[in-house]
Amino acid sequence: MRAVPLGATKQAVIALLKDGEYQDGDSIGRALRMTRAAVWKTIKKLQEYGVQIESIKGKGYRLLEPLQLLDIKQIETPMPVSWHVFESLSSTNDYLRSVKSTHDIAICVAEQQTRGKGRLQRAWYAPFGKNIYLSCRYPFQKDISEMAGLSLIVGLAVVKTLNSYSGDQPFVVKWPNDVLYDAKKICGILIEMTAESNGACMAVIGIGINVNMLNDEQHISQPWISLKQITGKDVDRNQLCTRLLHNLFEYLTEFSQQGFAAFQSEWNKADSLINKEINLLHVDKPVQGKVIGVNGLGHLVLRHANGSERAYSSGDTVIKK
Ligand code: BTN
Repeated sequence: MRAVPLGATKQAVIALLKDGEYQDGDSIGRALRMTRAAVWKTIKKLQEYGVQIESIKGKGYRLLEPLQLLDIKQIETPMPVSWHVFESLSSTNDYLRSVKSTHDIAICVAEQQTRGKGRLQRAWYAPFGKNIYLSCRYPFQKDISEMAGLSLIVGLAVVKTLNSYSGDQPFVVKWPNDVLYDAKKICGILIEMTAESNGACMAVIGIGINVNMLNDEQHISQPWISLKQITGKDVDRNQLCTRLLHNLFEYLTEFSQQGFAAFQSEWNKADSLINKEINLLHVDKPVQGKVIGVNGLGHLVLRHANGSERAYSSGDTVIKK
């Protein structure tokens, strides 16, 4: 796996360019105690990542769009965690799955993923410096069979976080774990579980949130939206990570203690599928029915045309036209 740790030099150069004014190589070099050639190399690497930096002879360098890199010094967590921060990584989920499993809580974030993964073997588009690509490794003293609701409560923690950016609570969940705004996807969640001895298990919870992405339509096949498109402003990703981790850990703690049942009414309020006729792609075989809701385990309850009701623990949902 190619993993590039986030370099302090890139952070410092971006910080100097953040006002959008020209800065010449000499003054950047003097400020950061590096040679002009080293400044040029750093700028070139950032340009290769897709960062829009204009370079004009005699004037210097200028950032063409606002950018603030991730900085864990600015991200607060409500409990101690081990941090893994990268400028480029294949996938934050794959990384946390590959490092030796200890029982501490680990968080991995990256500025860019080169092989970001979605559910059902889909790819997750992850350009540099724009969005949040975060994975959290979290141990549970639960049997893997009790974990179906985990992806749902992570979706609810994301909804709570995103609603804090908007007065009228417009974000909704789509079972099992998409977060939508105006029927467009803003967040995807990929949970990978490993069963451990003694009925315990370890989850790697991957969260991708479209934050400051604007013109990347050609890379994504389904309708999507970003927080910047909704709020009209650049969003501080360090602050968003702080809010997200605060809500995520609160929900993970409650889920560990009470299970999904404690979240059922919150789910019902945010559920975009309730009473909708849907197709559920379930173990390769589509089934159809009306969504009645979720049960205490977080399984989706459908009423079929013959009046029978059945709960499904996994699948992909599509509203019927
Ligand atoms: C989906 O909607 O299909 C799930 C998308 C999950 C994307 C996130 S980004 C951080 C983490 N690392 C990955 O490779 N995938 C998840």
